[in-house]
Amino acid sequence: MSSIESVLHECRKFQPHELFVKHATISGIDSYHALCASADSDYASFWGGFARKEIDWKKAFNHILDESNIPFYRWFYDGELNASYNCLDRHLAKSSNKTAIIFEADDGSVSKVTYHELYIRVCKFSNALKDMGISHGDRVIIYMPMSIEAVVAMQACARIGAIHSVVFGGFSAKSLHERITDVGAKTIICANYGVRGGKSVPLKATVDEALSLGGCESVNKVIVYQRINQDTPWSLDRDFWWHELVENASDYCEPVWVNSEHPLFILYTSGSTGKPKGVQHSTGGYLLGTIMSMKWVFDFKDEDIFWCTADVGWITGHSYVAYGPLAIGGTQVLFEGIPTYPDAGRFWQMIEKHKVSIFYTAPTAIRSLIKVGADFPGKYDLSSLRLLGTVGEPINPEAWMWYFQEIGKERCPIVDTWWQTETGAHMIAPLPGAVATKPGSCTLPLPGIIMDIVDEEGNHVEGVGGGLLVAKKPWPSMIRSIWGDPERFKKSYFPTELKGAYLAGDSAHRDEDGYYWIMGRIDDVLNVSGHRLGTMEIESALVANPLVAEAAVVGKPHEIKGESVIAYVVLKGLRPEGDEAKRIVAELREWVGKEIGPIAKPDEIRFGDNLPKTRSGKIMRRLLRSLAKGEEITSDISTLDNPSILEQLKQSVI
Ligand code: PRX
Repeated sequence: MSSIESVLHECRKFQPHELFVKHATISGIDSYHALCASADSDYASFWGGFARKEIDWKKAFNHILDESNIPFYRWFYDGELNASYNCLDRHLAKSSNKTAIIFEADDGSVSKVTYHELYIRVCKFSNALKDMGISHGDRVIIYMPMSIEAVVAMQACARIGAIHSVVFGGFSAKSLHERITDVGAKTIICANYGVRGGKSVPLKATVDEALSLGGCESVNKVIVYQRINQDTPWSLDRDFWWHELVENASDYCEPVWVNSEHPLFILYTSGSTGKPKGVQHSTGGYLLGTIMSMKWVFDFKDEDIFWCTADVGWITGHSYVAYGPLAIGGTQVLFEGIPTYPDAGRFWQMIEKHKVSIFYTAPTAIRSLIKVGADFPGKYDLSSLRLLGTVGEPINPEAWMWYFQEIGKERCPIVDTWWQTETGAHMIAPLPGAVATKPGSCTLPLPGIIMDIVDEEGNHVEGVGGGLLVAKKPWPSMIRSIWGDPERFKKSYFPTELKGAYLAGDSAHRDEDGYYWIMGRIDDVLNVSGHRLGTMEIESALVANPLVAEAAVVGKPHEIKGESVIAYVVLKGLRPEGDEAKRIVAELREWVGKEIGPIAKPDEIRFGDNLPKTRSGKIMRRLLRSLAKGEEITSDISTLDNPSILEQLKQSVI
């Protein structure tokens, strides 16, 4: 409740700047309402019309939405298209020499590719993949750093109808292994190393380690992009250098035309069990979601220079790096490095250097840049900017105001975009020339996206109020299934109580203007620096350590990361103290880093002889959350089997 009350005290409201409204694609609130009304009056035709207009189809669709097997919705399902054709080929006639990607490496060196050059690179690599035996429906794991090659790899898979599954380069060998086996990958595309913040990261060695863990018989080839000239572990009969494969490959590759529902990709994300979910997206509907949001929310114009800072390993890097900007023929910046290297002015320096006009990043990056270098933006010319965006977690009003004043100079609207891996594209966000913004609110749903707030029984919450955030109607870019587990898809997102609505897993509040304020997750999923982490995943990793008997993980509010990871651990031996406790904490943090990835390392570990449980053996997480925050426990603990344990768990080792 306290967070709900705190946002209600935020009553600043910013109307879109006159100049912005004048040139906006959707200009003025009446245009927004007109679009919403058109979706209301004939929902299917609304989306069908945009799908016909914005996508080049090889075979036109006759049916827009199939609802015969709910919740397995199908969109444009008798149409055929190719995503890579829509991102590349169709721009060649008009924009062959237009810059598609401006790539800035970690060390500041810049390389650019035009649409024609990117098209040639994708064709060559597609042919290389075909030579490796990859074809329609095969799964390909991509484990790459931010690079033009990562985009080429994704586009090439799309071109030949293969299904890519990108794994974030920060995930460990264990996590990579889990995804390789779950998806049944045939090939892995990786770089030998990644380069970030002046350091090299051995990606190929991690792939080798993952493959050595067993059960990866499906993988028979590994394609390696040589990012730096450095020793690379090699397996002669399995590994191939990217540059050697493309050297003599033909620069024409006919796109494989796929059904609109053909899976474009599978992307793993955390849920409330220990096993990540392979979120399966379609081709036609997904592409439409990215295109419409590029136009409506980013108000994209032909001359814009767009920069989304997200890694291609996350959904944001799929929708707003690898597909959306290319599908609309835009120019974008792609950055290999980190925001604080060589100093905390890197983002602002790059905005000046590349004349970025639309900048999209995460609240956690904004907060950390405020903390380490609030005066850096003043050193750079940020006048090229016209629109700012945020994604991944709620932005606190203070950070929003700093972004608005120091970066956007009160000229640039901020689009706070709420969406998820599962939604494929923006769902709730201001259309910047139409909807007034309020710091901390993602404002109103996009036209054709029917959101609501409901209670636990699925009943609509009228007017001002809070509850569960749901989508009442299917939308084109929605998740189609969980790879290999359609039952889990149904149960997780369409629980029977909600009468057919999509359960987002967030709680939200609606204010008197109908604006949405996201309050956070309702399940056991944490949001650390804009990344989803399942508490169960971290618990399973901890319990896999030979020293650990039991573990419970909760989140605690964190000034920069949004949430930090607090682990309560019971060892098999005695509860450690002093230096021994410190040593075990270090060991367990390292362990979790190896099991999942550095992002999941607990910020704090507390040891107990036991965990607070009810008499029926259920861990009382509510109490653990209060302890983590340092709150006095005032609530009823009469159902607790072992109240004395609370005192012990108040103490943190680090
Ligand atoms: O809790 C919401 C939060 O991030 C979750 C989705 O995480 P993921 O699938 O990793 O995708 C992140 C990038 C789209 C949501 O359930 N979230 C995302 N955007 C916002 C947000 N919370 C508040 N405001 C946002 N703008």
